[in-house]
Amino acid sequence: MTVITDIEDLRVLHKKRAPRMFYDYCDSGAWTERTYRSNQADLQDLKFRQRVAMNVDRRSIASTMLGQPVAMPVALAPTGLAGMQWADGEILAARAAEAFGVPFTLSTMSICSIEDVAAHTTKPFWFQLYVLRDRAFIERLIERARAARCSALVLTLDLTILGQRHKDVKNGLSTPPKPTVANLLDLLRRPRWCRNMLGTPRRQFGNIVGHVDGVGDTSSLASWTSAQFDPTLDWSDVEWIKRRWGGPLVLKGIMDAEDARHAADSGADALVVSNHGGRQLDGAPSTIEALPAIVDAVGPRIEVWFDSGIRSGQDVLRALALGAKATMIGRAYLHGLGAMGEAGVTRCLEIIRKELDITMAFCGRTDVRQVDRSILLPRHP
Ligand SMILES: Cc1cc2nc3c(=O)[nH]c(=O)nc-3n(C[C@H](O)[C@H](O)[C@H](O)COP(=O)(O)O)c2cc1C
Repeated sequence: MTVITDIEDLRVLHKKRAPRMFYDYCDSGAWTERTYRSNQADLQDLKFRQRVAMNVDRRSIASTMLGQPVAMPVALAPTGLAGMQWADGEILAARAAEAFGVPFTLSTMSICSIEDVAAHTTKPFWFQLYVLRDRAFIERLIERARAARCSALVLTLDLTILGQRHKDVKNGLSTPPKPTVANLLDLLRRPRWCRNMLGTPRRQFGNIVGHVDGVGDTSSLASWTSAQFDPTLDWSDVEWIKRRWGGPLVLKGIMDAEDARHAADSGADALVVSNHGGRQLDGAPSTIEALPAIVDAVGPRIEVWFDSGIRSGQDVLRALALGAKATMIGRAYLHGLGAMGEAGVTRCLEIIRKELDITMAFCGRTDVRQVDRSILLPRHP
């Protein structure tokens, strides 16, 4: 039995258990992967001020996101194909998040459908929307999210054009995997994944297949989706979606202070400083580099959240110190899911909770909502 003590342990197990093309889909970034790597590296470069004798006996890491209480300021980010890392992955991750008391975001490109996740959970989750050319389909997706009692819409703005990940091209990423010799040999080494996957009917994009005319199988779906991402997206579309949805709106993929001002002006409730985990614009700064200017630009007008590169509770604390109100995690929880299903997502959240709580205490603080830049050493003393 492997003893799991950190997210890295979950990553190693994920790599062993999930088919290579899905593991690689998760653990890769665009082109040279420089931005992907700098997300983590720049977070880790921030040093904490260690404090002593400050009575840190009674501590709280509880907070709020969109006015709702959360056990800690960490939500599960939307991730496509989570149901390929582990059978029924989105349902399992949503259940783990619900039991833990943090929000779960279902991706447009999920395997389990909105309705399916709603049927297997008891509390509202969030739905992430991509702007697609087929606006009638978007209207239906928004209606479906509303009918499923989703409590927030996360609108992703940084994927109107697809960044390229070399590994996905080389692996011939497809859902389900094509029966090539290389894929079959790889699957033979993952008997548990195969068994679980054969035991579930959920193996296609659940929000799309059966809901769009002419999309029935994988090949028609692949051509439909690649033609659907919409580079004409502008702020008038954001307003249109805000009106159609009418509920709490989160804008994801903001990396620039000017765009952050547009986001605040749009009346959205939160924005996520995100470079899509380094999967889109290679050469963009790390998100922790971009965060302070965005916080300074829009401050209290809109909740500023942060993602990309978080692999520990220390990283969560670093983002909070530089002004984020809350964070999202992508790969950290996918590693848990791909390693051990629902139990792995729970383990990921437990690890981050413990690291966040203890690191905060070492910094002499007792309330995660009061953390600020003074817990960090100045970068260039
Ligand atoms: C495998 C994978 C799939 C993703 N799919 C989506 C998606 O469907 N929609 C979206 O808005 N973001 C998607 N993202 C980006 C995440 O929401 C999040 O911004 C990113 O994972 C944060 O970086 P981290 O993985 O280092 O935590 C995806 C990320 C990964 C790793």
